[in-house]
Amino acid sequence: MSMVQERTAIVTGASRGLGKELVRLLVRDTGVQRVWAIARSELRLRELRSELGEKIEIFPADLTERSAVDRLSVALQERQPQIVYLVNDAGFGKFGPSRGVAVGDVWDMVALNAGALAAVTQVCLPYIGQGGCIMNVCSIAAFHPLPYMNVYSATKVFALHYSLALRRELRQAGVNVTAVCPGWMDTAFLDRAREGVGHMVTRYAGITTPERVARKALRDARRGRSRSLCGVFSHLTFWASRLLPRSLVTRLWLMQQHLS
Ligand SMILES: NC(=O)c1ccc[n+]([C@@H]2O[C@H](COP(=O)([O-])OP(=O)(O)OC[C@H]3O[C@@H](n4cnc5c(N)ncnc54)[C@H](OP(=O)(O)O)[C@@H]3O)[C@@H](O)[C@H]2O)c1
Repeated sequence: MSMVQERTAIVTGASRGLGKELVRLLVRDTGVQRVWAIARSELRLRELRSELGEKIEIFPADLTERSAVDRLSVALQERQPQIVYLVNDAGFGKFGPSRGVAVGDVWDMVALNAGALAAVTQVCLPYIGQGGCIMNVCSIAAFHPLPYMNVYSATKVFALHYSLALRRELRQAGVNVTAVCPGWMDTAFLDRAREGVGHMVTRYAGITTPERVARKALRDARRGRSRSLCGVFSHLTFWASRLLPRSLVTRLWLMQQHLS
């Protein structure tokens, strides 16, 4: 007897912010039959299921832990889903002078924003076929070096280069990879970034809502775009970092933040 594979979306960072908005859009605007919603907070994931219904399957996990990715791998082997969307959104940053950032936060930023993004993709790949779509949430922070956000921005460089290289590799198989590069979004991310570190980075030019970024990201992914940028400031940053010397763009950013 052949097993009917469910058209499934896997979304990390699904409990809040951009990831939650993407789950809402995937449920309402695409033909997915199931969304595996992954984040640490079981409570918030349950609330999401109450809002969106039985299509949501919750998968509480701390993705800084390698064992969480192994658990996901086992669940995928058992269920054999057809993954039509993979959204790697989970991420966090700590902004402030490097001497003030705890070593645990440094480790976890790299583990979550870079390690888990690649490892989750790795365990999902066998289940993504032609027409499948991978959306990796990077940031405009990947476009040029960012003092006071150095570890965070470096993890986003990893995410961006990884995504663009994977995109090229998977092209023949008909799988699209889009690097979603948001600018500032008004989410709990900013509170976590400032918590315990001090207020160095305080000017959020072009800040927008996660709803807007999510809509643009899904549209760009469906059109097979390599990058998704939303809003004037994100486009300006992208082009400035391509056309001007890197050191100048970094200096302009420091001036905009009133930092030296
Ligand atoms: N907000 C911005 O200004 C901004 C700008 C550019 C890029 N981004 C990127 O956009 C993505 C989403 O950010 P957001 O603004 O939506 O932030 P957010 O509201 O703080 O959401 C982050 C999501 O990641 C999950 N998460 C955090 N740590 C985790 C862990 N250890 N294991 C599993 N899940 C974890 C959170 O859920 P739990 O807390 O329940 O675990 C939450 O669902 C991130 O990759 C971020 O780097 C944000």
